[in-house]
Amino acid sequence: MLYDVVVVGSGISGLYAALYARRAGLNVALICKSNPLRTNSAVASGGINAVLKTTRHDSIRDHVADTIKGSDKLARLSAVSAMVTGAEEIIYELQEMGVQFDRDNEGNIAQRPFGGTKAKRTCYIADKTGASITQTLLVQCRREGVSILQNHVMLGIATYKEKFSGITLLRRRDSQVIAFACKSLVLAGGGYAGIYRGHSTNSQESSGDILAIALRAKMRLANMEFVQFHPTTLIGSGTLISEAARGEGAYIVDEREERFTDELQTRDKLSRDIVKHQLEGHRVYLDFRHLGEELIDKKLPSARKHALNGAGIDILTELLPITPSAHYTMGGIWSRNDTSTDIPNLFVCGECAYSGVHGANRLGGNSLLEAAYFGRLAGLEAAKAAKKGEYHPIDYALVDKESRYVESILEGENRFNINTMRRNLGNNLYTNAGVFRTHDSLASALEYVHYLMKMSSGLCCINKERSDNVELLSIIEFRNSLTVAEAMIMSALAREESRGSHYRNDFPQCDDKQYEANTIIRRLAGTFLRITFEGHLSSDWWHRIREFFHAK
Ligand code: FUM
Repeated sequence: MLYDVVVVGSGISGLYAALYARRAGLNVALICKSNPLRTNSAVASGGINAVLKTTRHDSIRDHVADTIKGSDKLARLSAVSAMVTGAEEIIYELQEMGVQFDRDNEGNIAQRPFGGTKAKRTCYIADKTGASITQTLLVQCRREGVSILQNHVMLGIATYKEKFSGITLLRRRDSQVIAFACKSLVLAGGGYAGIYRGHSTNSQESSGDILAIALRAKMRLANMEFVQFHPTTLIGSGTLISEAARGEGAYIVDEREERFTDELQTRDKLSRDIVKHQLEGHRVYLDFRHLGEELIDKKLPSARKHALNGAGIDILTELLPITPSAHYTMGGIWSRNDTSTDIPNLFVCGECAYSGVHGANRLGGNSLLEAAYFGRLAGLEAAKAAKKGEYHPIDYALVDKESRYVESILEGENRFNINTMRRNLGNNLYTNAGVFRTHDSLASALEYVHYLMKMSSGLCCINKERSDNVELLSIIEFRNSLTVAEAMIMSALAREESRGSHYRNDFPQCDDKQYEANTIIRRLAGTFLRITFEGHLSSDWWHRIREFFHAK
């Protein structure tokens, strides 16, 4: 198939990219692994940050300063400034498309506080913000003629004589490997928090496929060690109880019903406070009881529903037991401010991208903004590149290699249980590469990942059915998870300091002199990975910015 622009991933960033490439008059395909409404964007419930003309007691400067401070000094100022300045336009554009943001008493778009700021900056639709925006963009993409191809799984990036030429995909309908030639590509396929299976707010589909593919294509990944743990998720399932709950005034308490932390500090700090309290023998709960039924039903209906369905708890009258779970990954495919990457005509956006705006820790409400802002930019840039570009042939040796890979999984004899292996990986990562880590715990996680890598060659389909084979998809995803887990742990081992979401018990201090820089990992020959620290941001730089923005 021939498309001008192909976009992989159907969260908010992918939908926005596809829409804008299409609006440039091009033939655009949007590829999704399964149902476009099952992405992480649809799970991010609490809201999207923006300083609007009606926002009180806030400013673009404060939003920039909070974002850089929250990032523990690793965010790129130019990228943050561009995103924050573009936020208002995004909100009104979404409203124009049909997103019905909640309103305040004066009829303006209502805003609530989120962690890491004193300002009320987060626009919302009850606690269903991500899902509402996703649905609206999906309708818009359909209406404007984007070709949406569900149930296609990206396998590789095709190049011809070192020029980008297209992608290879698994067509789930019949398990065939196919190729799409295109002039430019946008990767928007999500992050890797789902590899913490059993301890993640993400669906199992967030297996970091796109990052594993990028690593195999010798692209740079940045800051893979920074994994955000969301402080308030249901024990056992990892179901997200939105930060909106704390924004609307819910407390975090222990079994004595005592508050022990600041509920609106950044997620990295709050998660550490909760895990520390748990390690001291306490149980931790969200307390909604003082908020009253009217507010809960108006502003937090999903929290009430999830608590009842997932834990059998009525939050109007009972405490809800919670724990931190892996929620969002700051690491991603290295990109410039304009979303371009190491490969010409290949752009990235959303959670799979390192866009430079989150650094070592992301503020709640900034991910939907990042997805929308950089998604739109990626669509525009990809369209520009496609208009100037040309088609290059697909190297069918690659299609053949990937067909043999798929056939080996479909036809081989299975020796292990994929579900147990996935679950064990999740448990091991949560324990050894979780909220707290040390050299020894990380080394033990790495050893386990290498063991699973060896074992994974014995993972094949028990069910040999070729139509929509879920096992086949799970095995491909699991192998990608292992590639990403290795890169993540190696990056965490290399960063011998504590910063943002990466807390090393054996190096509890932040070491700006050595590590105020991005961790870059890339694959050299064979499977050998090389780590460097690049883009050192001197402390002087930080002091100057801090003064400029009056950040504390
Ligand atoms: O808690 C939440 O609603 C999550 C929002 C986000 O990740 O930005």
